[in-house]
Amino acid sequence: MVRKNLSCRLERPKQRLTNADYDSSKPAAQFMKVLITEHEIRDRVTELGQTLSETYAGRPLTILGVLTGSIVLLADLIRATSVPLRVALIQAASYGGTRTTAGELTINSALVPDLRGRDVVILDDIFDTGNTMVGMLEAVQEFEPQSIRSAVLLWKTDRTVVDVEPDIYGFKIPDEFVVGYGLDYNDEYRHLPYIGVMEEEDLKHASGN
Ligand code: IMP
Ligand code: MG
Repeated sequence: MVRKNLSCRLERPKQRLTNADYDSSKPAAQFMKVLITEHEIRDRVTELGQTLSETYAGRPLTILGVLTGSIVLLADLIRATSVPLRVALIQAASYGGTRTTAGELTINSALVPDLRGRDVVILDDIFDTGNTMVGMLEAVQEFEPQSIRSAVLLWKTDRTVVDVEPDIYGFKIPDEFVVGYGLDYNDEYRHLPYIGVMEEEDLKHASGN
């Protein structure tokens, strides 16, 4: 059936970013402070890929991305890793919290394949309090993999309350609320190619406010 009147026009977002916001070589002053540029992320992800390639050479590696925050990192990191690997997904959601604080953690492992005998790297966007990663480590243990390690792009060291640390991390960052490169505020801003800081002024401009 041929559908007529199919429109490809996208609705304009309420808050439009200017071109300057996408030029990560200079701070997007009109929008938000850039904490880590696109270039810095690319270089670090390349290094993390090399680390994984060395650590997991000759081993049955599965990279398990935590939805939704890890998707951008996952896509880049697997292409920076040169050893054979499998990709799988698990979902973490925290209900009952506000947009900036986590509520009760719910883990959906319905998409997780058989991991017995596999060396698993759980990949998330950020290690904040660490509660999400601890929940993930427990949930993945049930699948009886050969080994489990955790990897994140960002680690907010001052906020960590658990006694585990991420095995692999990209950057240690201060206690600020960050968005971009997969990280969201109210489910938005994941597409920004850099890590930006949401400051009071930015929160006022965020949609839904
Ligand atoms: P946790 O406190 O380590 O359990 O982190 C919980 C989740 O909160 C992370 O997986 C992120 O989705 C989210 N989160 C924590 N800090 C930030 C932030 O600065 N920006 C965006 N999301 C965050
Ligand atoms: Mg989130």
